[in-house]
Amino acid sequence: MSYEKTYIMLKPDAIKRRLMGEIISRIEKKGYHITQAKIMTLDETIIAEHYSHLLDHPFFPKLSAFMTSGPVFAMVVEGENAINGMRQMIGATNVFEAAPGTIRGDYTNNVTENVIHGSDSPENAAIEIARFFG
Ligand code: RTP
Ligand code: MG
Repeated sequence: MSYEKTYIMLKPDAIKRRLMGEIISRIEKKGYHITQAKIMTLDETIIAEHYSHLLDHPFFPKLSAFMTSGPVFAMVVEGENAINGMRQMIGATNVFEAAPGTIRGDYTNNVTENVIHGSDSPENAAIEIARFFG
């Protein structure tokens, strides 16, 4: 285990549904620190970079349209084991397999509009923090 920083982003559906407070509260209650945060609206270029591993998938245009449909809440979250710990809290990518008690498991039943993003590795956490916070 090690002290880590991860990039967490509440997606446009979370902001539209006014879920920010509840989700931030869960992150804090777990014991993580939110050390940077901002609301921003993303364009297609940064989404193509952020989700470059998905560019060739048929669902990419839908994902890009969703992610640019309204503001997101971007955060740097820190703590022991924060990268994998946040992924555990977020739950499975497939929302129909996201366990109750996870954020996706509790707040969404939509494959695309799945509330929250979390970095999936130390390498990507560093890249994503630099991408969104400079
Ligand atoms: P994220 O990057 O947003 O934290 O999500 P993830 O790691 O759990 O999953 P990833 O494979 O990186 O997918 C990124 C986002 O693309 C959308 N998605 N749609 N079959 C589909 O229509 C589909 N599959 C993935 C989701 O919004 C997912 O979070
Ligand atoms: Mg991902």
